[in-house]
Amino acid sequence: MLSGKKIILGVTGSIAAYKAALLVRLFVKHGAEVRVVMTDAATHFVGELTFSNLSQQPVFRGLWDGEWTEHVHLGAWADLMVVAPASANTIAKMSQGICDNALTAVYLAAKCPVMVAPAMDADMSIHPAYLRNLRLLQEDGVKIVDSGIGFLASGLHGKGRLAEPEEILAAVADFLGGTEGQLSGRKVLISAGPTRERIDPVRFLTNPSTGTMGYAIAAEAVRLGAEVTLISGPCNPSVDPGVAPVYVESAAEMFEAMVERAGDQDVVIMSAAVADYTPKRSYDHKVKKQPGDLQLTMTRTRDILHQLGQQKPTGQLLVGFALETQDALANARGKLERKNLDFIVLNTLADAGAGFGTKTNKVTLLSRDGNEVAFPLKDKTEVARDLWEHLTQSLKTT
Ligand code: CTP
Repeated sequence: MLSGKKIILGVTGSIAAYKAALLVRLFVKHGAEVRVVMTDAATHFVGELTFSNLSQQPVFRGLWDGEWTEHVHLGAWADLMVVAPASANTIAKMSQGICDNALTAVYLAAKCPVMVAPAMDADMSIHPAYLRNLRLLQEDGVKIVDSGIGFLASGLHGKGRLAEPEEILAAVADFLGGTEGQLSGRKVLISAGPTRERIDPVRFLTNPSTGTMGYAIAAEAVRLGAEVTLISGPCNPSVDPGVAPVYVESAAEMFEAMVERAGDQDVVIMSAAVADYTPKRSYDHKVKKQPGDLQLTMTRTRDILHQLGQQKPTGQLLVGFALETQDALANARGKLERKNLDFIVLNTLADAGAGFGTKTNKVTLLSRDGNEVAFPLKDKTEVARDLWEHLTQSLKTT
């Protein structure tokens, strides 16, 4: 993803500096050359040695250590400078052009684009002085990878949490790879999560789907510029889909929601784990227990994907998911053909770290034209990127 790219990572004094270590690993893993620049405050949280080892390069910290023009050389060398985590103090200095340490001097000398991922406590992140400085940086052309909402080191809950390393990586890859806007003008419909089939008002049948994969696919589509509709079963994954989900509960509700919207979509993706059966009778009162066994008669739900395959307009890409435990490839290809799909994403429970409730997934993408691409185990955010890379390619040729 970042092969041959040269990145300066600026690390400032924040507890989130430990995430910067993960970021260096991700950058290096994806083929980038990384030079780390730290402020003195950053070294209170993570040592210089950690970063020099991970980047396999000396860390630049003291303006007066070594060659005094090092900041100018670094600024000219890089394709991108990323400051993550960026403290309120460093953002203030950058916005004013103050260059009293190695990091801010490199920033002023940098000829390349600059990205900043802020991290600070909740109250600091809404202070007008900080917001003013951030605006100034944006006006100067600095790209901001916004902080998220969550638990903060102070014990408070609120805005200010550094974006996750995978999100920063994705923003960097987009920026350098120019993938932003690849889906602009395209409409994408995605289903995610489990369904619930009611037995009575207090009981239902469901499955362990957390919706993470579908939400990650939606988030990536939003970042690529698509107009995204996300139909979600009852779930609340940690991934921010970047769009308000339309919630449904049962397979029947999901059927209605998908079928009525699919007509004018460029891409339709069924990643939801839809129940294949529903109780034949759903009671409107709580079923009281009786002596002996209880027999529940189940009836088939309608196959949403099959219906979508029947009504698919020309040019639309229809994508299904398959979770297989036996004869995975043959079963997945059978589903692709039976349901008139363009792609099917196969995951098997046999792979450790893949499937329900995990942050990672290992998938094989099968296409209508007989192609098969097997990806290694990856974070679901990265799996979503891989899938979209193939889908956007295919959209270009349809
Ligand atoms: N699916 C659907 N509607 C259903 C059931 C499943 O649209 N009622 C979709 C899923 O979202 C997934 C794909 O079909 O994209 C594969 O689901 P799966 O349950 O594995 O396939 P089935 O065709 O039901 O086959 P089997 O139960 O034999 O595995």
